[in-house]
Amino acid sequence: MARLKVGVLISGRGSNLQALIDACARPGFPAEIALVLSNVAGVKGLERAERAGIQCRVLAHRDFPNRAAFDTAIDAALTQAGIGLVCLAGFMRILGEAFVERWRDRLVNIHPSLMPAFKGLHTHERALAAGVRFTGCTVHFVRAAMDDGPIIVQAAVPVLPGDDAERLAARVLEAEHEAYPLALRFIAEGRVRVVEERVEIAGSITKPPSHLLNPQG
Ligand code: GAR
Repeated sequence: MARLKVGVLISGRGSNLQALIDACARPGFPAEIALVLSNVAGVKGLERAERAGIQCRVLAHRDFPNRAAFDTAIDAALTQAGIGLVCLAGFMRILGEAFVERWRDRLVNIHPSLMPAFKGLHTHERALAAGVRFTGCTVHFVRAAMDDGPIIVQAAVPVLPGDDAERLAARVLEAEHEAYPLALRFIAEGRVRVVEERVEIAGSITKPPSHLLNPQG
């Protein structure tokens, strides 16, 4: 079967991009990354794409007169490359409503919180300030509102004594690197449906314990 052609949009480090590259390199993985687009030149993520032999392009938002023109250029590059699914991986520009609607249910994002908690920036600082015992990450379909949309996969991560934002971010990032490839696999296998703005995944196995305690006793 033909593999799903994925375009990945980045702005920086690209560790989630790397997780997706590694997953796609596994034998039988149902997706391939055909294009990496960055809105920032010279970032580590672009190096990762080049090293993996993936076509990459820089479209700097500053080179465009407005958001619509920038979005149109991204759309054109994705369409030209025959992309079927767009993965935002640390892409720090908000995409306009027209773009989001055009790619509806073919555009996913990873966010470093258990949505709908802690949308936006500084998620780990805010999780620590709120004193939550668990945080995590969410892979979701993108909607026009920021960090919003039907949830595909979440990973829960405990907040531990002595955590600062950096330590917590590192623990969540590890979970991100597992959650994003899993969500991509579900989508590429054609098992994901959005029904009334909630995601159904055909044949998925739910095997976590019925609940997690933190602290444990
Ligand atoms: C990741 O933690 C991702 O969840 C976050 O940016 C980081 C990018 O890291 N995304 C957002 O906050 C989007 N709202 P990476 O470039 O190493 O993948």
